[in-house]
Amino acid sequence: MAEGKVHIFDTTLRDGEQVPGCRLNAKEKIGLALKLEALGVDIIEAGFPISSPGDFESVSQISKVIKNATVCGLTRAVQKDIEVAAEALKGAARSRIHTGIGTSDYHIKSKFNSTRGDILQRAIQCVKWAKNYVDDVEFYAEDAGRTDNDYLAQVIEAVIKAGATVVNIPDTTGYCLPHQYGEKIAYLVNTVNNIDKAIISCHCHNDLGLATANSIAGVIAGARQIECTINGLGERAGNTSLEEVVMIIKQHNGLGYYTNINAKQLNPLSRIVSDTMRMPVQPNKAIVGSNAFSHSSGIHQDGFLKDALTYEIINPEEVGADSSKIVLTARSGRSALAYRFQKLGFQFDRNDVDVLYDAFLKVADNKKEVEDYDLGALAQQYQSNAIVA
Ligand code: KIV
Ligand code: ZN
Repeated sequence: MAEGKVHIFDTTLRDGEQVPGCRLNAKEKIGLALKLEALGVDIIEAGFPISSPGDFESVSQISKVIKNATVCGLTRAVQKDIEVAAEALKGAARSRIHTGIGTSDYHIKSKFNSTRGDILQRAIQCVKWAKNYVDDVEFYAEDAGRTDNDYLAQVIEAVIKAGATVVNIPDTTGYCLPHQYGEKIAYLVNTVNNIDKAIISCHCHNDLGLATANSIAGVIAGARQIECTINGLGERAGNTSLEEVVMIIKQHNGLGYYTNINAKQLNPLSRIVSDTMRMPVQPNKAIVGSNAFSHSSGIHQDGFLKDALTYEIINPEEVGADSSKIVLTARSGRSALAYRFQKLGFQFDRNDVDVLYDAFLKVADNKKEVEDYDLGALAQQYQSNAIVA
């Protein structure tokens, strides 16, 4: 494994699809899986095969069509789940079983009415069962974010000894702060004797809006896989957003990390996922929101028009977005107005724009956004002397 490569494990079709109203049929799942492979993700978590016959069928069909990415199926630490997942993954060129169990005291006591010792044995057992079917076994320690670090390290060492090739440290409830999550990963790197035999994976939820920051903190501390979804879809407040972590890694290439993702496909795929899952993307969403490359205040517009780098750290083309937009509102300035008139083919000089600007502000104060047709009307009035200084 290359030192700086961060594996992108996409779980749009599993954790993302758990969102109420986002359920996908097999045809939709296969279509999206092919797009995810074209995007360059390393692992596609295709579903939870035992959860329904439909999901079994989706994972089975995805396994047959995906050629380069690893296809992964989720299970609980239950023998039957693992047998069914192995059956669904049978046709895959590269397959992975993702199995695991809750390790926090909340899960151990409230969910399983069990003990740390028993959960440790069940963790080892599920990895051994999965190893009977596939070489590539990922173990998840559910609610690792709230799991005691000493106990977590003990579990992780034992599951790697049992054959886990990837160890997933989920912040299932989105509770951790970035420094805490980073310290948790660093603790595992420094205390688990056989940690060099497995890849550490970050699986962060966004309940406090920290999923992306936590995943990056995990990578800086030594993790080399991020579990994420397109548009950050997922349970409750969602999962880590794929487009965000990919672009952070790209923008901060000085850190020495990289992914295989073809960034130009981020916006087109975001739209496809949003349409297929009937889940709109918030306009101010980083990288893929409709306002991600819009400039509306006068100060920003003036700077942007002089040099895009003053207010844009990413060229929209790089992420397959439409070109940057200069939006006209009552907060816009003269440079933006002159720019938009010029784009519409009007040759106004500075004095013309000064006069037009006052009339523009009157229109803008009554509207959320001034459109091209408003500008056309203003230009016509000015040219027919209906607007004068
Ligand atoms: O959030 C979580 O802990 C999960 C696991 C099943 C990996 O989704
Ligand atoms: Zn999750």
